[in-house]
Amino acid sequence: MQGLEQIMDASTPLSLPRTVALVGLMGAGKSAIGKRLALRLGLPFVDADDEIERAAGCTISEFFERFGETEFRNGERRVIQRLLEGPIHILSTGGGAYMDAETRVLMRKHAITVWLRAEFEVLYDRVRRRTHRPLLRQGDPKEILARLMKQRYPVYAEADLVVDSTAQPADMTTDQVIEALRRHLSHRATGAIA
Ligand code: S3P
Repeated sequence: MQGLEQIMDASTPLSLPRTVALVGLMGAGKSAIGKRLALRLGLPFVDADDEIERAAGCTISEFFERFGETEFRNGERRVIQRLLEGPIHILSTGGGAYMDAETRVLMRKHAITVWLRAEFEVLYDRVRRRTHRPLLRQGDPKEILARLMKQRYPVYAEADLVVDSTAQPADMTTDQVIEALRRHLSHRATGAIA
């Protein structure tokens, strides 16, 4: 494990003791930031949704249509468990993953969780032109997004770290995630010394 000085020295590459799992609503930038974070930290990037599609042999939309949301959450939990038990990486999780109590326990146990918190306008602007998200097709996307924010934000707030995902360039948000990770790990290092 890196010492406190190395962790806080921005010129020293950050060495992570466990996987970093990004959580947050659709459109929060989990994949965009996750890819950048992985490049910066020299770690593999894994998108849980892509892994679910690979394991299921169909798209997430098709999965929802054929088997429904409950089965999707079960599959999502299994895939995330497998990923979390593997080598350290940067993991982008689907927006509902952290809402599942068992998946949340797994993430707490195996990962440093980072909530990418975004305001409604930022999220809506990012998701409105895309059609691949089944939950947003079940009614008025604005209403659905607003309802999900209300339901999910108190739970996402349980993540280890919170970083605001704004309309600024993704590279800047990535810097902020790295900064938050350095602070988090330095607290852990200080705690270990004390
Ligand atoms: C979902 C978010 C999606 C995907 C699925 C369900 C959700 O992932 O897992 O459509 O419940 O919020 P993204 O957050 O990557 O869009």
